[in-house]
Amino acid sequence: MRIPMIAGNWKMNTTSAEAVALVKEMRPELDQIDNVDKVICPPFVSLAAVKELLKGSSIKLGAQNLYFEEKGAYTGEISPLMLAELCQLVIIGHSERRQYFNETVETADKKVKAALKAGLKPILCVGETLKENEAGKTEEVLTRQLSSPSARSYYLSGLTLAYEPIWAIGTGRAASGEQANQTIGFIRRHITRQCGREIAQSVRILYGGSVTAANIAEFINQPEIDGALVGGASLKANEFLSIVKQTSSFKRGK
Ligand code: PGA
Repeated sequence: MRIPMIAGNWKMNTTSAEAVALVKEMRPELDQIDNVDKVICPPFVSLAAVKELLKGSSIKLGAQNLYFEEKGAYTGEISPLMLAELCQLVIIGHSERRQYFNETVETADKKVKAALKAGLKPILCVGETLKENEAGKTEEVLTRQLSSPSARSYYLSGLTLAYEPIWAIGTGRAASGEQANQTIGFIRRHITRQCGREIAQSVRILYGGSVTAANIAEFINQPEIDGALVGGASLKANEFLSIVKQTSSFKRGK
């Protein structure tokens, strides 16, 4: 049984005051829902304040990135050890990091390893560009992004994957539920070949890219999809609550 996860990626949005206000608005209702893993990932600078607010809450806290060294002369970077004091999860290899900050398959892999060593659960993002998609290269790209020789230990340690087709992120042009299910099915078959059926069946794989309260049902109804990584819609309390509630009632009904 894979517990569904809805994770909000706030990206570079909200001041600390805004983050606190948003959490205060959502917490009471989110705390009522117990069959979905609810995760919020505010900017680094709000993590400490949000952690305080989430004392005694079932909402989990995540960061959006980390650096793979534990400490040292890396001006401006944040280490896994620093994050482990503040939160439980961390998004790694988001396509915006790959696109704007030159992250590669190799750096994402180092970050996953460092996160797990510090006791953080990674949400590793993978996905293809529009050009790759149109050239029929989706499977090839995903295979490359999921080729780590340590994959088996990552999955056993509780890594979550997020399939985010880059053409669907922030564009309002989500993949269809069927399309996302097919590609996530491919990812699961890839993990089966890599690590065996038992591990592949245990890995949570989320869909991400223009998920809203209006389209979440389409994704969560699909057998391979275990939840969503939500960007824009996670900044609106009502939208995010509705996404979590719909996920919860679908899973209850199953
Ligand atoms: P979006 O972002 O929901 O705004 O498309 C998703 C993501 O980038 O994680």
